[in-house]
Amino acid sequence: MGKTTISTLNRMKSAGEKIAVITSYDASFTRQIEMAGMDVILVGDSLGMVIQGHESTLPVTVDDMVYHTANVMRASQHAMVIADMPFMSHATPEQALMTAGRLMKEGGAHMVKIEGGAPQLDTVRHLTARAVPVCGHLGLLPQSIHQLGSYKVQGRGEHAAERILKDAVGLQHAGAQMLVLECVPAVLAAEITQALEIPVIGIGAGGDVDGQVLVLYDMLGITSDGTPSFVRDFLAATGTVQGALSAYVAAVRSGEFPAVEHSFS
Ligand code: KIV
Repeated sequence: MGKTTISTLNRMKSAGEKIAVITSYDASFTRQIEMAGMDVILVGDSLGMVIQGHESTLPVTVDDMVYHTANVMRASQHAMVIADMPFMSHATPEQALMTAGRLMKEGGAHMVKIEGGAPQLDTVRHLTARAVPVCGHLGLLPQSIHQLGSYKVQGRGEHAAERILKDAVGLQHAGAQMLVLECVPAVLAAEITQALEIPVIGIGAGGDVDGQVLVLYDMLGITSDGTPSFVRDFLAATGTVQGALSAYVAAVRSGEFPAVEHSFS
């Protein structure tokens, strides 16, 4: 089995094959994730909550992201690895380039992920023109939690839905090669997936997207503040970490996960 690259993912989108993505933050889980045949690993800034015990992702630093990305890369063999750009590490295009450079050169990431739409377009253009592959992130933006007030579904209502669709098209035009859609109505996610050429990965975004991502600790049922409604506890059903990861990959590939109860209308 060769390395998964953006070309592999584009081919999967064209062929209608679902892409399986999971977060990881260390070498031991990454080894298990690789054995399950995952396509993409996201070193998410969710590590601020699930590893570091913070209430939000905001305290995560670039040093933290570089450290965890390097840990993952040491055990990664086939999956494509994306690293999150943490809060306030991409406030200007120049700062974003420095951050992305560290995540790729020191961490070894293959792609970086940036939260946000219209305000990030200049930054995405700046990075992609300099050989930094970018994944966008729209819908629920955890780094904006203090503006949002709570972790709730985004893009409900015509105006809000149009804004997310416009941002998605804008990110693709700016050079983003992938998009994560978090907690949006399934119908909106399906429309965006149809409209874009780049792979769209959903989390709480229904099944009519090109792939799924979950936070590892959520799908193992070990998140301390409760499992979100769009998550299935795969460990409860299988009894082992390896079983849970393999069942997740199989359920994403077959379209059996997410079910209607994991989606929003
Ligand atoms: O940080 C993270 O784990 C993420 C996922 C929720 C998509 O961005």
